[in-house]
Amino acid sequence: MLGAIWAQDKNGLIGKNDQLPWHLPNDLKHFKANTLNKNVVMGRKTFEGFGKRPLPNRVNIVLTRDTDYLAGNVIVLHTLEEVLEFARASDKETMIIGGSQIYQAFEPFLDELYVTYIDGVFEGDAHFPEFDWTKFEKVSTEQGNVDEKNKYPHEFVRYTKIK
Ligand SMILES: NC(=O)c1ccc[n+]([C@@H]2O[C@H](COP(=O)([O-])OP(=O)(O)OC[C@H]3O[C@@H](n4cnc5c(N)ncnc54)[C@H](OP(=O)(O)O)[C@@H]3O)[C@@H](O)[C@H]2O)c1
Repeated sequence: MLGAIWAQDKNGLIGKNDQLPWHLPNDLKHFKANTLNKNVVMGRKTFEGFGKRPLPNRVNIVLTRDTDYLAGNVIVLHTLEEVLEFARASDKETMIIGGSQIYQAFEPFLDELYVTYIDGVFEGDAHFPEFDWTKFEKVSTEQGNVDEKNKYPHEFVRYTKIK
């Protein structure tokens, strides 16, 4: 089972200078809850945005074309096929966690999507890529709680691939 998880603003923005453009702790909790104890696959830029630190209690897989790339406590892979093979052989679920290039590359192979829609417009430089939404159906929507620490209205939506 291959899932993808991301948060986007009203314009499909997902990143700014290799970071998230917003501060929304509820979304970080949602991300953690849905990735913990799973395999997480990320592009080299997203990994470097985390300060090259692996996410704890997850199997971290970094995708780069650089065959000399070195990083501690992560599995470095170089092709989509290697990642798909790893996911197939693993007894854990695999989650694609971004960024833009990586979501685009894995689109044909995704079974589930976990999207956080943030009702705001932010500034940044990375957008969610073109995507064939006709292949997916919405299965659940949950409203996030707006409070002092979570200022932007947001909702958590799950989709599955139409069989
Ligand atoms: N809002 C969210 O939920 C969310 C989640 C994750 C990331 N983001 C944001 O997304 C932005 C980064 O996205 P991005 O598209 O610029 O970068 P990215 O997808 O994180 O990483 C791109 C890099 O991945 C490697 N790569 C891409 N396709 C590959 C392939 N087919 N085979 C092997 N390696 C491949 C390349 O690394 P090399 O150049 O080393 O070869 C490429 O430069 C950041 O702003 C980040 O904060 C947002």
